[in-house]
Amino acid sequence: MDLAEYAASTVIRRGRAAFSAPRYSVWKAPGLSPVPPHTTLPSNFIRIVHAAAAAALGMEDLILITGGAGFIGSNFILQWMAEEKFRVLNLDKLTYAGNLHNLQSVESHPRYRFQQGDIGDRDLVRTLLERERPRAIVHFAAESHVDRSIHGPDDFIRTNVNGTFSLLEEARAYWSDLPEKDRQAFRFVHVSTDEVYGSLGPNDPAFCETTSYAPNSPYSASKAASDHLVRAYHHTYKLPVLTTNCSNNYGPYQFPEKLIPLMILNASQGKPLPVYGDGQNVRDWLYVADHCRAIRTVLAAGRTGETYCIGGIKEMPNLEIVETLCQLLDELRPDDSVVPHKNLVTFVKDRPGHDRRYAMDTRKIARELNWHPVETFETGIRKTVRWYLEHENWVQGVTSGSYRQWMAKQYATEL
Ligand SMILES: NC(=O)c1ccc[n+]([C@@H]2O[C@H](COP(=O)([O-])OP(=O)(O)OC[C@H]3O[C@@H](n4cnc5c(N)ncnc54)[C@H](O)[C@@H]3O)[C@@H](O)[C@H]2O)c1
Repeated sequence: MDLAEYAASTVIRRGRAAFSAPRYSVWKAPGLSPVPPHTTLPSNFIRIVHAAAAAALGMEDLILITGGAGFIGSNFILQWMAEEKFRVLNLDKLTYAGNLHNLQSVESHPRYRFQQGDIGDRDLVRTLLERERPRAIVHFAAESHVDRSIHGPDDFIRTNVNGTFSLLEEARAYWSDLPEKDRQAFRFVHVSTDEVYGSLGPNDPAFCETTSYAPNSPYSASKAASDHLVRAYHHTYKLPVLTTNCSNNYGPYQFPEKLIPLMILNASQGKPLPVYGDGQNVRDWLYVADHCRAIRTVLAAGRTGETYCIGGIKEMPNLEIVETLCQLLDELRPDDSVVPHKNLVTFVKDRPGHDRRYAMDTRKIARELNWHPVETFETGIRKTVRWYLEHENWVQGVTSGSYRQWMAKQYATEL
């Protein structure tokens, strides 16, 4: 019996406890050279054990979510827990954008577990993969706010590029050691954005899966780099990856530095509504639950190595969004100090390099996977406004401390 066989059989006998036994005194392998008790094992021993265990035991009914405490990740986990069977392990660093309050309703659910950590921490990721043996990774973790990427791009490169690279490397090592049938079944879903495609003119056709990449901000450049790495891991190593590129999301639990929650909260508090430039930048908006359904569809049925464009097929200029929100607030909060709320609109200096128009052609995911958004913009935006008005505690929790400092820095010179 060689070391790997012995390790595998021991792991099968002892189960998970074997992973916490990094000493020869526990791993007394028959046929191996005797070593003094309490000797620390050579560094590759644990690796051999884990690889052998992975090969012997295969995958668990569990998915690893990265960035699950953020806006889309937490919506995804809540939907997953309600509608799917597999367990969830949520790996999140808890940056300013990560908020465990989003997941309070599932925090003690037997199928949910949280692990605080950085996707760039390779030892941690390796241990999690080898110990938990997920059948899929759904990768949301990212620095995601364009304005922040303009003020300080470092974190965007660190997490979005280097972090994704680390995750891919560890996923590849884990996947390579799986039994063949599990290698076939494993999936790595990379959640990305339409912003990698750059900006459209007013009459250009919408972005689609074959549109050339032309990122314009440090955020979109870092996401584009991660998309390329994911693609390369499929072409080079055959890692079963899928990439989704989605348009702007809105809905519950979005950090209020982004357009829609920012406007709802400012308007309901009688504060100015800062609109960039002339307000005519066009975005394609999708209700977050529809995005989560699309990712689940791609995970379940997408073709590996493919990318899927996702969007709400609802292009709107930012000013129209703000005016729609103001009308809803006039209806829902008629006694606010400033009504009509649109009197609060204030035009501020445009964001540098502000992309003019994004639009998504979603025909591929509709045709191949039969995904279509359930919400219209009208139904989704009404639900969203109501949610923010009804969740004052959540809003207060995220709009204290560092959020205030950020808002002061971002808008101080403009308002
Ligand atoms: N918000 C949108 O409209 C939109 C649209 C399309 C695609 N996306 C993509 O979807 C993903 C999620 O977006 P979001 O809006 O939920 O972002 P978010 O900023 O709300 O959440 C990001 C989450 O990742 C975590 N995180 C950040 N760095 C990490 C690290 N190094 N290790 C582990 N966790 C880390 C944060 O703590 C946070 O919980 C991103 O990859 C983003 O590019 C977002």
